[in-house]
Amino acid sequence: MNFDDDAPDLRSAHVIVVGNEKGGAGKSTISIHLAVALLKAGHKVACIDLDTRQQTLTRFFENRRSWAAKAAWPIELPRHCAMGRGESSDVRTNEAHEFGLFAEAIGAVEHDYEFVVIDTPASDSYLMRLAHSLADTLVSPLNDSFIDVDVFSRVNHDRSQRGAVAHYADLVLEARRRRRQVDNGVIDWIMVRNRMATFASNNARQVALSISRMAGELRFRVADGLHDRVIFRELFPIGLTALDPIEQAAAGLSSSQNAARREIDGLLTALDLPGRAPGIEHMEARRLWHDRVANYYRELGAAG
Ligand SMILES: Nc1ncnc2c1ncn2[C@@H]1O[C@H](COP(=O)(O)OP(=O)(O)OP(=O)(O)O)[C@@H](O)[C@H]1O
Ligand SMILES: [Mg+2]
Repeated sequence: MNFDDDAPDLRSAHVIVVGNEKGGAGKSTISIHLAVALLKAGHKVACIDLDTRQQTLTRFFENRRSWAAKAAWPIELPRHCAMGRGESSDVRTNEAHEFGLFAEAIGAVEHDYEFVVIDTPASDSYLMRLAHSLADTLVSPLNDSFIDVDVFSRVNHDRSQRGAVAHYADLVLEARRRRRQVDNGVIDWIMVRNRMATFASNNARQVALSISRMAGELRFRVADGLHDRVIFRELFPIGLTALDPIEQAAAGLSSSQNAARREIDGLLTALDLPGRAPGIEHMEARRLWHDRVANYYRELGAAG
């Protein structure tokens, strides 16, 4: 099927927003690993840190940059933009200031970069909503816990109280509506399980069931992401990841390195981003991606 008639005007940058209103779900960890994996695959990557308070992604790349200055092997770095905070006491002035900075950051990379990875804070704001409506791929990490599920769809023992669309999911549905109106684009929303336990508990199975029930209604895909591994957090001070040749930086880390690499690779495959087929130019890959994803959600809609 050909969707040329309603194809959006695609920019070169495929925007990956990592978002979830639940604090500590793993947004920054996933952003870090996605950005480094894409860099290592040879893509031109830009990052934007929308978490103006914690600035985790910014801190990671500062650490990586200083490590790169003395490392014996080349270390890939993205173009990175940290958003400054509006410091006025007037909310509207701050919003206008932050909008200006964000528009500038996006404008600077949307035509020259292949991927933009945006890490977001665990809060709702005008800027968060704007960023979500720009996403091509929205990655929402969540832990195997009903508390995490409740941010998307209300969890309750009473069937009649269960399943109401919760605040963050509502934000995403609104972003999708806006996106359709603005450029007829689609947002591929993937729920990525994070900090999975090695042995699946009954609770983890119940949570997985609950997530798969939500998937049809809210229209997201589900991917197994990362297990809970020390290696996903211990390299932060030196700005490295399991994807880097860390055996040269720290002895004794390699036992979990391969498993971590396989997980990140599996996550990238599950995200099904444009550009993974050899011999296909990025823009062509973007168009193929759009047709594939639009078709997927159209069929899901028709079936629903
Ligand atoms: N797969 C994992 N294995 C081990 N530790 C993890 C994993 N994912 C995240 N963590 C740890 O969990 C904590 C929260 O992760 P992270 O900061 O990435 O979450 P976040 O969603 O960005 O949080 P916030 O909402 O505060 O921005 C951190 O200490 C991080 O190192
Ligand atoms: Mg964070």
